[in-house]
Amino acid sequence: MAVQQEPSYRRNLGKVSYTYKDGGAQGEFMNACRMAAWRNAIEKHSISTDCILDVGCSYGSWAENWRALGFKKLHGIEPNPEAVEKARLVFDEVEHGFLEEVVGSIEPSETVAANGVIVHILEREAERRFLEESASLVAAGGHLLFSVINCEYYVTPAGREPFDGPNSCTRTLDHHRDVAAEAGLEIIDQIGTFINPWCLAEFDFVANTEGIKAEGDLWAGWEHVSNAHRPHTLVPFAEALFVARKS
Ligand SMILES: C[S@@+](CC[C@H](N)C(=O)[O-])C[C@H]1O[C@@H](n2cnc3c(N)ncnc32)[C@H](O)[C@@H]1O
Repeated sequence: MAVQQEPSYRRNLGKVSYTYKDGGAQGEFMNACRMAAWRNAIEKHSISTDCILDVGCSYGSWAENWRALGFKKLHGIEPNPEAVEKARLVFDEVEHGFLEEVVGSIEPSETVAANGVIVHILEREAERRFLEESASLVAAGGHLLFSVINCEYYVTPAGREPFDGPNSCTRTLDHHRDVAAEAGLEIIDQIGTFINPWCLAEFDFVANTEGIKAEGDLWAGWEHVSNAHRPHTLVPFAEALFVARKS
């Protein structure tokens, strides 16, 4: 009988809790763009800001963001014990455990978020289960917002193709749309977050040139480009924020 390996996010517990805050100028750029996408989603879809249920909240990296977006109560879920301890200092309430361990004991929320978590779930079946369980925590009429990387404009050692690293992966947006549909979700919007400076193959050299990557102007410029393109297109965004309802 084949030995069942535990899902990647369990094998990698404690290794995937880094966030935009650990990413210097590039991290700040990503965060500014993600915030713009969230603002856009909240306004367009009248997303409730009474409470955010943040699945995979790490050490509370989004606490300031959530408050700036108007959320009144911050409720997190996080399996990494060290991260939970820190998250409890900045969130109102944090559950310790993997989503599947705590899903049965949490009250649904009108707004549920999973930022930067699916990128760390390598197995298709585990992604489907994660989305299904996240959806089960969405109160009637509410929304699940989750971020996914688009491998076509992200660039990894596999180029612009789907890629499996030891603790993260990239897929096509079609892959994530199919899995979300299998999990019983209706995607009502897809909003680009950030466009990478190496979105074009001709700009691949930027990805490998630390000197260029350290320049603040580079990131400020691509933040402007991302903001200008966001209302009009999902291409060539490296990441998308999916806004979903239970179907
Ligand atoms: C890269 S961090 C993202 C943190 C934060 N959401 C952000 O965007 O800054 C991913 C977090 O998700 C957590 N995580 C991974 N799989 C999970 C699961 N199945 N249930 C709950 N949290 C999970 C990890 O422990 C990690 O702290």
